[in-house]
Amino acid sequence: KKLSILGMPMDLGQLRRGVDMGPSAIRYAGINERLNKLFNEIEDLGDIEVGRPAVKVDSDTGLRNLELIADKTKILAEKVDQVVAKDSFPLILGGDHSIAIGTIAGLLQHYQNLGVIWYDAHGDLNTPETSPSGNIHGMSLAVSLGLGHPMLTEVGGETAILKSENIVIIGARSLDEGERELIKEKGIKVYTMHEIDRLGMTTVMEETINYLKGKTDGVHLSLDLDGLDPNDAPGVGTPVMGGISYRESHLAMEMLAESNIITSAEFVEVNPILDEKNKTATAAVALMGSLFGEKLL
Ligand code: ARG
Ligand code: MN
Ligand code: MN
Ligand code: MN
Repeated sequence: KKLSILGMPMDLGQLRRGVDMGPSAIRYAGINERLNKLFNEIEDLGDIEVGRPAVKVDSDTGLRNLELIADKTKILAEKVDQVVAKDSFPLILGGDHSIAIGTIAGLLQHYQNLGVIWYDAHGDLNTPETSPSGNIHGMSLAVSLGLGHPMLTEVGGETAILKSENIVIIGARSLDEGERELIKEKGIKVYTMHEIDRLGMTTVMEETINYLKGKTDGVHLSLDLDGLDPNDAPGVGTPVMGGISYRESHLAMEMLAESNIITSAEFVEVNPILDEKNKTATAAVALMGSLFGEKLL
């Protein structure tokens, strides 16, 4: 099997500068060396050019960097589409979580029943109406559902809409009021930290895999490093205490590897400026090892 690595150094979806260095930090943490033995072939497609545009706030909606994010995620969507078309596994390195708008739009060109595992402290289910911040990284999952600013929901074309019953959120512990309402309205499956504590990660992953297995034709893992506890992944812009441990995360990745359901992945929100000796990027690479079937013995 072939792996295609694609860097998306975009920090326009939030306010903490530095997450644009995420792809470099992850590469520096040894992604190639780690994944070499797990794939027949690895190609690194480099980074999508984002540049360093000045911050612009949309006057109607208060959304930050709306046009730019729409433009750049469209480019990412096309690249992801190309990778899937040549039967390679797309692995996208963020960048803040707004990049998922592009990744998922690209995947939806190929999968009619795409599943998404959203591993995150947050729901990223805000719309321009409910967002407390105007930060698009807090809206990307809603956009993939077809909800939000038309410039963003149009990124993959009209038909690129994710089904709410194909989503599982894991690790949630910070949700805004509008996100809670949307989760209830759409019946989105969520494992909050409460369920992870109560059931244990083994059960959470068994249930997640069973939930998605029959009804999806591909499953994307969208892993926001802030899903992990800030002690294990301090280099993130919006840390929330009481998160998933490093060990639980390895277990989750190993169970996904065994299940064979994952067809694409992205690792986002790594911010080396806020990190401790590249700990967060190093964790990301270690988790990729487990996700792609690395075994100690
Ligand atoms: N819910 C908050 C907001 O909408 C925080 C979102 C954090 N998202 C993330 N991808 N880290 O601004
Ligand atoms: Mn195609
Ligand atoms: Mn997120
Ligand atoms: Mn998050």
